[in-house]
Amino acid sequence: MKDTSYRVSKAPKSAIRELFDLASERSDVISLGIGQPDFTTPEPVIQGNIDALKKKVTMYAPTRGVPELLELIEEKVRRKNKIDSNWKENAIITNGASQAVTLAFASLFNPGDELIISSPNFVSYFYCALFFGVKVIEVERNKDFSLNIEGIRNAINPKTKAMLINTPNNPTGHALTPKELNEIVDIIIENDLYLITDEVYENYVYDGFKHVSPASLNGMFERTVTVNAMSKLYSATGFRIGYVVASKEIINLMEKFHQYTVAGTNHAAQYGFIEALKMGTGFFENILKSFDDRRNLVYHRLKEIGFDLVKPQGSFYMMPSTEKFKLSGPQFSKRIMKEQAVAIVPGNIFGSFSDNMIRISYATEIEKLKEAMNRIEKFVLKL
Ligand SMILES: Cc1ncc(COP(=O)(O)O)c(C=O)c1O
Repeated sequence: MKDTSYRVSKAPKSAIRELFDLASERSDVISLGIGQPDFTTPEPVIQGNIDALKKKVTMYAPTRGVPELLELIEEKVRRKNKIDSNWKENAIITNGASQAVTLAFASLFNPGDELIISSPNFVSYFYCALFFGVKVIEVERNKDFSLNIEGIRNAINPKTKAMLINTPNNPTGHALTPKELNEIVDIIIENDLYLITDEVYENYVYDGFKHVSPASLNGMFERTVTVNAMSKLYSATGFRIGYVVASKEIINLMEKFHQYTVAGTNHAAQYGFIEALKMGTGFFENILKSFDDRRNLVYHRLKEIGFDLVKPQGSFYMMPSTEKFKLSGPQFSKRIMKEQAVAIVPGNIFGSFSDNMIRISYATEIEKLKEAMNRIEKFVLKL
């Protein structure tokens, strides 16, 4: 038989999914591996989807998405993100933020182009790049997970096409400060680059932190691809609805790729998102407070146990170092699962500079988090 795709073959199976599979074989496992919130999707969102199905919204959706939804997105990004856009030209509905990222790759890059990513970073970016023949230049984050601006400047060469940021970040929890953002914007403009910005955790910010969208900054709209989704804010990862806001030229390219690869996005689910956007975000206030309590609990307990870690200001992840315990991230993850039934994702899947780290998600109820911390303590004491 002839070779199958070397690009796809090279990508490993998702280590996170494998961890879930392992965890599902045991009833005593507490999962800190989860990448989705634990509250239920708000009722109006579910009802919006059901009502659409009852009204027989079961045919193909318009390629770019349902106009009413696109219009609500225009309004949302103006209000929340301070991005001025026109729904008729600047937005497309996607199958989650995942496909929004794919569309960004499909529309911006040619094989051989280089993309700068600060590592550690979200795992899918690396494999999307592989699939599209894009060379990723990883720049190691500073110790506190802020961006290494000098490193980024040094990584730029004539092949550099774009930079990809994710703020607030999965896996580090780092949220870009205004200073970092301004430095990034200067680099993008000075070097005539594109910026892909994944903002799926924009609502998960703590200590009064304010999320700023780079596309709202001077001179950035035309060169920025803003990726977002309903997945994390509405705890609706299974709806598979996301969106991109970008220039007319980029959206036109995305529409073609979208048409010929997926022929659109789930039609009825888009009506769920319409109801979500009509709801406002008031429902999220108490939820955020609960995530903040979990963040504080996990941070203090991990510190008490002796981990070196940074207190993050966004998302629902933390990335402690395992170095002090003389274990690599994968060794720690494997042993804590076996010996204490806690599922934790090893850091090495998030790029080249996090072999001795683990990613902890605190999107789990507080009593379980407390028990997980006790189990981690027991494990560490026995080392
Ligand atoms: C940073 C980041 N971007 C994108 C996604 C994918 O989001 P979606 O479920 O909307 O495809 C995730 C999911 O964990 C994520 O953490």
